[in-house]
Formats: sequence, structure tokens, C-alpha cells
Amino acid sequence: MRIFSGIRPTGDLHIGNYIGSIKQWIDLQNENEGIYCIVDLHAITTPYSPKELQENILSQATSYIALGLDVEKCILFVQSSVREHSELAWLLGSITPMGDLGRMTQYKEKSKKHKEYINAGLLNYPILMAADILLYKIESVPVGDDQKQHVEFARSIAKKFNRQFGETLKVPSVKINKTGARIMSLQNPRNKMSKTDSGAGCINLFEDSTSIKKKIMKAVTDTGKTIKYDKVKKPGISNLLTIYSSFEDITIKEAEVRMKGKKYSEFKKEVGASLVEKLEPLRDRYIDLKSRRVYIEEVLKQGTKRARIIAEPTMIEVRRNMGL
Ligand code: AMP
Ligand code: TRP
Repeated sequence: MRIFSGIRPTGDLHIGNYIGSIKQWIDLQNENEGIYCIVDLHAITTPYSPKELQENILSQATSYIALGLDVEKCILFVQSSVREHSELAWLLGSITPMGDLGRMTQYKEKSKKHKEYINAGLLNYPILMAADILLYKIESVPVGDDQKQHVEFARSIAKKFNRQFGETLKVPSVKINKTGARIMSLQNPRNKMSKTDSGAGCINLFEDSTSIKKKIMKAVTDTGKTIKYDKVKKPGISNLLTIYSSFEDITIKEAEVRMKGKKYSEFKKEVGASLVEKLEPLRDRYIDLKSRRVYIEEVLKQGTKRARIIAEPTMIEVRRNMGL
């Protein structure tokens, strides 16, 4: 299967990004052809610093490799280095009904959050994401469930294109990691863990071990004593169970069995220990790779070349079928 996914290069990656998205990429890389994209053109739709963007792109590429992405097996590249993405986005925009864009949850949330920065790019964000996906004629898109609506949009635009201009684009399916689809903030387990939610609610992937343990110990839990998965009544405990089971590669049920009879504090200690055990070697690898900038730049350059080999023929077909 050919798969595609992307993450915006905005700040450090957190455990939500890892569990919801990157872990799936790595789990899928042996049996599939993975195409992974650092979506800088999406990153500029919310406030950002041009100086920091390049650094964020490189550190994100470094992170993926440190986390275990095998760049021999998959393609890793930067969105703006393959100009077919912007071109296809423009063309798809011409068959996108305006109303569909304003209704998107992420647009509504982000335009509320950055009232001073509502731009057409933010509104058109799903069109560019559809272009990312459709350029590569892929089968599946592994993402967290917050992105499901955008993938559905890409599917419907592909179908519309094919109806209007003849069979051209492949309609992909969305692949959501059921248990870890949404990791919640440790301080407010009814809200999603997010990059902007820094501080005690969010654990970055390469954070130091003492700080990771502290944040887990301070995580908001629920009334009661039993360690049981119940998202409605026990959102805090359920979130910790999800995190634990993802890092241990076991099911939630198995995690519940392991934690049976334990106190909340003992449970948290184990969650913290598991995170530290798994993340420490990854952090060491990240620090080591950080000093190999030329290598990372070369990986991205090769990724661009390989991505364009797939993207170019799609664009030739799209232009021809649209009469351009
Ligand atoms: P973003 O940081 O919003 O660009 O998200 C990058 C990827 O991580 C997307 O596939 C998201 O669905 C996923 N993701 C972001 N935050 C979370 C979270 N709290 N839980 C699970 N997945 C997440
Ligand atoms: N919109 C995604 C996010 O905010 C990132 C993204 C851009 C993406 N293009 C994509 C994800 C294509 C999957 C496929 O997380």
C-alpha cells in the first residue's frame, strides 16, 4: 500500500503527535511505501517566525529519523520543495465550493484562536492538504482523528474531479489509530494535547526524564480509586491508560489488567517510568543526529527528488484532463 501523511513544522513534537501519527508511520513502514511530508506551506497559515521555520523543518526531519523512520524505505521531504503541491491546490480550489471550507472544524477553531491572523490560506488549508494527498495516488492516510474531516474533504474533492474531468485521482481512505487517536492534555483531559498547550499539560518527545516523570505525577486524575478506561467518567485515567498502552504496545484491556489494584500514584509512577524508558534512547539518538545537519539536508534533498518522480506525472495528467 502507498501511504502519505504530513505534520506542520511548528515547534517541538509531543507525545500526542507521536502516538496519533508518527508511531503509525513507523509501524507501517516495513510493509508499505510511505511518503512523509513536512508541511511548511501549511505552517505559514498561522503566526510564525520565518527565521525559526527553517530550523523547525530541520529539527522535525531529525526527530522523525531519531524516532525510527527509515529513510531508505520511505520518502521524507519538505512540501514547498515540490511545487506541484501548490499548483494542484490552485486547480482543486477551482472546483471547491466556498461553503465547504468555512464549515471545517479546524478553520473555525484556528480563526477563533488567532483573530488577528485570519487569512485566505487558513481557509484554503484543506485544499492544499487534499493536493498533498491526491498528488501521490495513495491508498491510505494515517493521521489522528482531528484530521479525519480534512481527509474526507480530500476524498470528496477527488470524486468530484473524477466526475467532472474523467477518472484521474485516486480516492484514499483515512487510517486512524483507534486507541491513540486523541491524546488529551494532562492538565485538562477534556482538551486535546497540543503544541500550544505547553507547560504541564503537554510532554514533548525529547524532554528530559525528570520533567516527564513530574508531569505525569502532576497529571489531573479523576475521583474514585479504580484504574479503569471510561472516557466520560474518568477522562484523566483513560488518557494515561491510552498513553501507557501505546508506549508499551499493549491493548487498553491489558494495561487495565496490569494496573489492577494499584493506587493512582503507583499507576502514574509506572506510566512515567515507561515513557522515560522508551523515550530516553530516542532522545540520545536525536541529540546525536542534531549534529549531522548535512546528512539531514541530504535526506530531504533525496526525498524531494523521489517525491517529484511521483508528483510530476500526476500533474501532467491533471493539467491535460482539465484542458490546460
Ligand atoms: P499537528 O501538530 O496539528 O500538525 O498534527 C500532526 C499530526 O499529529 C496529525 O496527524 C494529528 O492528527 C496528530 N495529533 C496532533 N495532536 C494530537 C493529539 N493530541 N492526539 C493524537 N494525535 C494528535
Ligand atoms: N493538516 C495536518 C495537520 O494539521 C497536516 C497535513 C498537511 C497532513 N497535509 C497533510 C496530514 C496530508 C496528512 C496528509 O495535522
